[in-house]
Amino acid sequence: MTTSPSPAPRWIRWPEGDRSPRLGYGADYNPEQWPREVWAEDVRLMREAGVNIVSLAIFSWARLQPTKDTWDFGWLDEVMELLHEGGIAVDLATATASPPPWLTALHPEILPVTRTGETLWPGARQHWRPTSPVFRSHALRLVEELAARYGRHPALAAWHVSNELGCHNVYDYSDDAAGAFRLWLRDRYQTLDALNHAWGTSFWSQHYSAWEQILPPRLAASHPNPTQQLDFKRFSSDALRDHLCAEREVLRRITPEVPVTTNFMVMGETKGMDYASWAEDVDFVSNDHYVHPGPQALDELSFSANLVSGIAAHRPWYLMEHSTSAVNWQPVNRAKLPGELARDSLLHVGHGADVVAFFQWRQSAAGAEKYHSAMVPHAGADSEVFRAVTALGRTLAALAPVAGSTRRPARAAIVFDWDSWWASEHDSHPTELLRYRQEALDWYSAFLALGVRADVVPARADLSGYDLLVTPVLHVVPAELAKRLTDFVEGGGHLVATYFSGIVDENDHVHLGGYPGALRSLLGIRVEEFAPLPEDASVRLDNGCTGTLWTEAVTVTDPSVLILAGYSDGPQAGRAAITHRRVGPGTAAYVSTRLGAAQLPEVLAPLLAAAGLDSELPAQARGRVDLAVREDDGAEYWFLTNRTAEPIDLSGLSGLDGEPLAASWPMEDDAAAHLAPRGVLVLRRPK
Ligand code: GLA
Repeated sequence: MTTSPSPAPRWIRWPEGDRSPRLGYGADYNPEQWPREVWAEDVRLMREAGVNIVSLAIFSWARLQPTKDTWDFGWLDEVMELLHEGGIAVDLATATASPPPWLTALHPEILPVTRTGETLWPGARQHWRPTSPVFRSHALRLVEELAARYGRHPALAAWHVSNELGCHNVYDYSDDAAGAFRLWLRDRYQTLDALNHAWGTSFWSQHYSAWEQILPPRLAASHPNPTQQLDFKRFSSDALRDHLCAEREVLRRITPEVPVTTNFMVMGETKGMDYASWAEDVDFVSNDHYVHPGPQALDELSFSANLVSGIAAHRPWYLMEHSTSAVNWQPVNRAKLPGELARDSLLHVGHGADVVAFFQWRQSAAGAEKYHSAMVPHAGADSEVFRAVTALGRTLAALAPVAGSTRRPARAAIVFDWDSWWASEHDSHPTELLRYRQEALDWYSAFLALGVRADVVPARADLSGYDLLVTPVLHVVPAELAKRLTDFVEGGGHLVATYFSGIVDENDHVHLGGYPGALRSLLGIRVEEFAPLPEDASVRLDNGCTGTLWTEAVTVTDPSVLILAGYSDGPQAGRAAITHRRVGPGTAAYVSTRLGAAQLPEVLAPLLAAAGLDSELPAQARGRVDLAVREDDGAEYWFLTNRTAEPIDLSGLSGLDGEPLAASWPMEDDAAAHLAPRGVLVLRRPK
């Protein structure tokens, strides 16, 4: 990995002469899709909407470098000037996201190869191998040209490396990838003996006698080696980081004063990139988020925004993309209902976003994304969407005092871990039905239902300050993490662990002696066998709950363990299902089955009570309001999001004495007494 010392955290450079605190507002701007005449109107409408920053040139490589040896910067010069004159800052992309046809024609060896050996041909986007030296050299040449040309431009506020690294090309099984994978493995293991041990190659005659024999986990006759799979996932995430760092090094060399970012995709089932490890590679964290329809859509938005904040160590971050209304890539693309545009945006702000941006500024008339919503829709500025966009611009302007404040950590946290996500969902496991992120999301939904704020934090974060930690399916527990969790509990913390946690070490080797392996003695239980359930099966618990997906034969091994619920039918009938144990001043609880979002609040509530945690919301708002709190030296900002389509009475809210700073609906004098349907209210309370 190419590294240079990380400078102190840096944020967008707003234009000289006007560095007053503000929230950013904008979009991806793709002017090359439009004739020049439209550009001036774009800037006029941007100003009308309150836009103050755009991401530019993301997919412009073919226009900037029409052939190997020709460049065309004229149009971009013009757009940069227009934006600058309009007072709009630019998050300028390095334009390397999608290689132009001349490059792939000249060098088809940069094209990615799938697990089954198929080439991903040009014709869409992001068809490049993260490890291709040929691609890298062409990309860095473009970065160098852009940095030299625009590095001192007064509109330049930040560099945007590539775009959504790994969105389509995270797993490449080409020969380039094979070579880079071997180098990565040499670096990790140093010796073949160490690799053979880690990968357990004594099994199935897989012992390697030379590095050259090692391949990515290409299509094989049966289950590929699990540690090879896990390492390939780690490597693939690192290979993209390496590309990010290579571009960043060019930018830092030429423009050391300009911050560098790239847009992460902390959302839904996008799981190839371990973003917790990427945070140190950028000057500030940026994220893209699209709502995935379903009963937990809004919970998932909050969960993702919350996790981004955890990755960003609660510092402000940049919401680089979300949608004003429908997307174009789901089976059925739902338009947002009135109020949802502002609600979704402001929920991100509550969780720490200091910029709200959309894909894209003007809806395309042609191309693959012409049915994806934008700030200016096909209907033009005389539209409900554009009116909602300008209204949000006014709300964000009113929220300027929030800029730079940090998100106040909650007292409880859900621990999120990419290694566990990757390894717990591998093939050749007790069940194929386990969904790591869904289990974590269900616990988050339970916190929301109880109206108790919880953070979502990467396992590598400092966990010691929390009162209560939930570790859903924390499958990979190296000794170091086991020690941190044990210290946490022994120091008075309250731990809630679930099924399939603590099972393997960093090499995906089982912790022997009984499950849950690394957490066995902390939890005071022992499990000899897993007993996963078929898809449509369930078991009853004696507390009235129903378990699905997973059960296991739990034996209590420590006299301090209390059985909170037992199995009342199925093969585990009469055995413990949920346990709880005092450990000095702390406690350790275990949930051995999947209970799902609807039942978890019942289990979580007493565990929160035992840890002394309560809701900050009045009873009528619990489950219906998402509360996020930001703070700076002088004030705290309560973001209250109405998760329902009904008005919500806020009387009894302790923060109600605060000044209503902004609301997503036209505020009247008594605005702070209630939340409009799908409304967001921000209260400022002096400290
Ligand atoms: C991603 C990309 C954008 C666009 C949007 C559409 O986030 O970065 O270029 O394709 O998806 O939702």
